[in-house]
Amino acid sequence: MDINFKDKVVLVTGASSGIGRGIAEAFGRSGAKVVINYMRQKGEAEEVLESIESSGGSGLIVQADVSEEADVLSMFEEAQEHFGDIDILINNAGIQADSSFLNMSFKEWTKVIEVNLSSQFLCAREAGRHFLMRGIKEGDRAIGNIICVSSVHELIPWAGHVNYAASKGGIMQLMKSIAQELGEHKIRINSIAPGAIKTPINEDVWSDKAKMKELLKLIPYGRIGEVDDVANVALFLASDYADYIHGTTIFIDGGMTLFPGFADNG
Ligand code: BGC
Repeated sequence: MDINFKDKVVLVTGASSGIGRGIAEAFGRSGAKVVINYMRQKGEAEEVLESIESSGGSGLIVQADVSEEADVLSMFEEAQEHFGDIDILINNAGIQADSSFLNMSFKEWTKVIEVNLSSQFLCAREAGRHFLMRGIKEGDRAIGNIICVSSVHELIPWAGHVNYAASKGGIMQLMKSIAQELGEHKIRINSIAPGAIKTPINEDVWSDKAKMKELLKLIPYGRIGEVDDVANVALFLASDYADYIHGTTIFIDGGMTLFPGFADNG
């Protein structure tokens, strides 16, 4: 299977670190022109651009707070002016702001909902409008492709992280409802739902031996995930090889959603 995104433009939100960075670099290696969105980590975004360019690809760095409507509109404009039409949106930007439920401030709640969920609404709406205006490109099967980065926590409740789990559950219904509405226009949308992937977001866990041991009990496949485990699926899902996959979530979690606590139990 030869997956190649030559002449395709992909916009990755939150591309300066973690899974977003891995996906941006993987698309760059596969020939795409990559719009690297970041919010605060300018230096890291520049590293991503360098890495894409050194693998022969091209990129454009765009600073935007994707939870702000005006920023999203200008990000799409800037991307389009530079590269022309966008073909693929990777709705990735996301944060955690953990706290026990009773101690969670309203700000911690709204911030995570805005960054993780509202941003995906804003970017998907903009991408959808953009795809429809542009229409189908010769040789393509879909007029545009959207991948929402969700989490195993769209399914698994997560005490101590209700804002995060609620945002990911919201992404699932956002994605599926858009899929119902826009499928007839040949806009393809799906989610990828990573489990524990070694990135800065969960460094407190994987950098601590005891916590890591506990984490591994939740992963039947017996290892923590790497960013490329996720990026490879994103490449496949955005390609025409996955043309009949629409409105679904692919879990990339080493079996975390098998609820391993129930093995010999319950
Ligand atoms: C979270 C990680 C966590 C993983 C499994 C992800 O969505 O961002 O911090 O390790 O889910 O619980």
